Amino acid sequence: MLSRINISRIFNLFHSRNIKTSACALSDSLFVHRDSSENNADTPFEFTPENKKRADAIMAIYPEGHKRAAVIPLLDLAQRQHGWLPISAMHKVAQILDMPRMRVYEVATFYTMFMRNPTGKYHVQVCTTTPCWLRGSDEIMKCIKSKLHLEVGQTTEDGLFTLSEVECLGACVNAPMVQINDNYYEDLTVKDTEEILDELKEGKVPKPGPRSGRYAAEPAGKLTSLTEEPPGPGVGVRSDL
Ligand code: FES
Repeated sequence: MLSRINISRIFNLFHSRNIKTSACALSDSLFVHRDSSENNADTPFEFTPENKKRADAIMAIYPEGHKRAAVIPLLDLAQRQHGWLPISAMHKVAQILDMPRMRVYEVATFYTMFMRNPTGKYHVQVCTTTPCWLRGSDEIMKCIKSKLHLEVGQTTEDGLFTLSEVECLGACVNAPMVQINDNYYEDLTVKDTEEILDELKEGKVPKPGPRSGRYAAEPAGKLTSLTEEPPGPGVGVRSDL
């Protein structure tokens, strides 16, 4: 068990090395719904005829008695239609799937991909987990904050951008990276980040993927391993077998 003195040493080490922590995501904002003028049970929400067909097609994938498994794709569909996920859309999904509203709330509050408050047209998610942090995510975050004049969790007044700080998005080999809506922008420099934001402001969709000239996640320079032709089958196997 850690003694009090050890805990104090760890605490001092933590601060003396200036280790950063992620922005504090208050549990209230993650799990609690508070009615507001724009997000309440009476907020108008109805699937468009086109999305209703999509919802039917999604539900058809699941066997009878297991339609509730479609709750995540239906919530995603509702969010894509509305831009974010009001509580009235959760109620609609609960009604379609014939499941208790509480079960839908449980899903919508568990997955941070569901934005339960008004969100800008472009949701800018900056990864600040260790690989991205070591590769300069602090500078990327600083650049976005100063260019858009907003802090994490805020939306620009024109409703274009919402900024979030997130944990690893699974593209560490291309760190630092940000996700904007469905696109990943990788191997970023501050200049790349500025260009991406400028293009979005102009209504264009910047080309997703690495900005370093890499095609995907191949080595940035030349190969450093697996440089020889792979041996054929049977290598290292006993000759008498
Ligand atoms: S640490 Fe940023 S994508 Fe994994």
